[in-house]
Amino acid sequence: MGSARHTVAVIGAGKIGELVLSGLLRSGWPAQRLLATARRPVRAEELATRYGVRVVDNLTAVDEAAVLAIAVKPQDAGVLLDEIGPKVPADKLVVSLCAGLPTSFFSRRLPEGTPVVRVMTNTPALVDQAMSAISAGAHATGEHLALAEEMFAPLGATLRVPESQQDAVTALSGSGPAYFYLLVEAMIDAGILLGLPRQVAHELIVQTAIGSAVMLRDSGEHPVKLREAVTSPAGTTISAVRELEKHGVRAALLAALEAARDRARELAAQAD
Ligand SMILES: NC(=O)c1ccc[n+]([C@@H]2O[C@H](COP(=O)([O-])OP(=O)(O)OC[C@H]3O[C@@H](n4cnc5c(N)ncnc54)[C@H](OP(=O)(O)O)[C@@H]3O)[C@@H](O)[C@H]2O)c1
Repeated sequence: MGSARHTVAVIGAGKIGELVLSGLLRSGWPAQRLLATARRPVRAEELATRYGVRVVDNLTAVDEAAVLAIAVKPQDAGVLLDEIGPKVPADKLVVSLCAGLPTSFFSRRLPEGTPVVRVMTNTPALVDQAMSAISAGAHATGEHLALAEEMFAPLGATLRVPESQQDAVTALSGSGPAYFYLLVEAMIDAGILLGLPRQVAHELIVQTAIGSAVMLRDSGEHPVKLREAVTSPAGTTISAVRELEKHGVRAALLAALEAARDRARELAAQAD
């Protein structure tokens, strides 16, 4: 396997499926090697017009594509697999994008030997800055992982992780963009509180977020070190840090990510 010669079908092309489709197209994956499926005809129409890919029914996608990228909501995966599971030839690669669902969920509903790879990506895929964590399920070889990497590398960074870590990955990077947006939103509100016009507060905080993120990535420094560089003795930053600690921001993040991990487990249990 490997290379753009393979046809990839995005089964259930909603928000995440669309990110994958558009990313593959941006990376030069030929439109004639991409298929999409959707539940509502109006959605099918929209995808065909926007991306010039063929939107087909699920069974046609199974028939024609070498790689089936499953992007339905976890709670819809059972119904989908009841429909397509028995029809999937065991030489196809199934790539699951569904949060929380273990590869065993798919393997049990697919013919014996079908390779399954689990990927947790995130919405910055839209600007080619995704974090996609990739795990091999039963029957998936190094070649299958390499093909999944080839699909997701154009959308941002990729990392191979053992499947046992995927619920934690979901809590950290899958849901992660939402935590940063919430922090940014709160800091913009703080700017308003301090009397800044909303647009000015927005610009200051968004660029500060981007600058901090690029420094974190490119300097290779530990975040503590970067924070210490902004925290002078008896200065302004330490006064703010004291308030953050007093209000339990660190503890809140620990509890929040634990709750997200637990919810991923719950969704998997409900889908089973
Ligand atoms: N959103 C995120 O940030 C994020 C991040 C990482 C992973 N994920 C995972 O990505 C998956 C999709 O999430 P999403 O936010 O993209 O949800 P979504 O926008 O609701 O997309 C799911 C799509 O699947 C379609 N669908 C459902 N059942 C189908 C079926 N039997 N046949 C064909 N199409 C079907 C739906 O069609 P209709 O629109 O017609 O209902 C919808 O377009 C989830 O499993 C989620 O865990 C999401």
